[in-house]
Amino acid sequence: MRTKIVAGNWKMNLDVRASQTLAQEISEKIEKLETPNTRIIIAPTFTNLYPVYHHTRLDNRVEIAAQNMHQAKSGAFTGEISAEMLQSIGIKTVILGHSERRQYFNETDTALAEKMLTVLNNNMEAIFCFGEVLEERKAEKHFEVVKGQLSNALFHLSANDFKSIILAYEPVWAIGTGETATPEQAQEIHAFVRKVLADKYGKVVADQVSILYGGSVKASNAKEIFSQPDVDGGLIGGAALIADDFVKIIEGIL
Ligand code: 13P
Repeated sequence: MRTKIVAGNWKMNLDVRASQTLAQEISEKIEKLETPNTRIIIAPTFTNLYPVYHHTRLDNRVEIAAQNMHQAKSGAFTGEISAEMLQSIGIKTVILGHSERRQYFNETDTALAEKMLTVLNNNMEAIFCFGEVLEERKAEKHFEVVKGQLSNALFHLSANDFKSIILAYEPVWAIGTGETATPEQAQEIHAFVRKVLADKYGKVVADQVSILYGGSVKASNAKEIFSQPDVDGGLIGGAALIADDFVKIIEGIL
């Protein structure tokens, strides 16, 4: 059975106190929930990783992830963070390839291919994001675009490496816009991704990888999206910043 995952990407929001408060609220609210086969992940910004992880009393089901990481081991990369630095504070999961990184910080498939190797060489885990922009969807190129993003950044990896990869389909036109992909649109791409993976790595790998949907997931639409057979959870932006909403979204997958 595939692991179900609800992950909150906090993006560049919340100072240290607010991050700790939110993490603690989420933790307290899930205390009474049974969450079998479900992972709950939150991704505060870099400066808040340590205090949230080490100085906040959290239910041990709440996992902490970083939002990005550089591919190099160390060196003259002003403003960047390495795998070793994340590991040194106990962080093992990192979001990579978010469309905001691709769009505003020129993150390329080539850089992502390197970052994936760095993740794997450091025994870490990636939440790898991909998805088409509106023009590509309108031109009906979304399948081609998604396949290209996956093959350019992931297909140098081995089948075994996919045990450390979570995929997150985030159509860019649905991020922060209030416009969600319909459950059918999400399912269509997720099933396609599984087929692309099956063709390259075999059905066992394709069936085992968790594929999350991200883009305007809210308490009101989460259950319907998560009910699709190939949707294994969500990567949540705005609604992950409100404890009640995030917990309702978690309830949507149980
Ligand atoms: P929203 O949920 O705010 O649309 O953001 C989705 C996202 O980008 C998660 O990584």
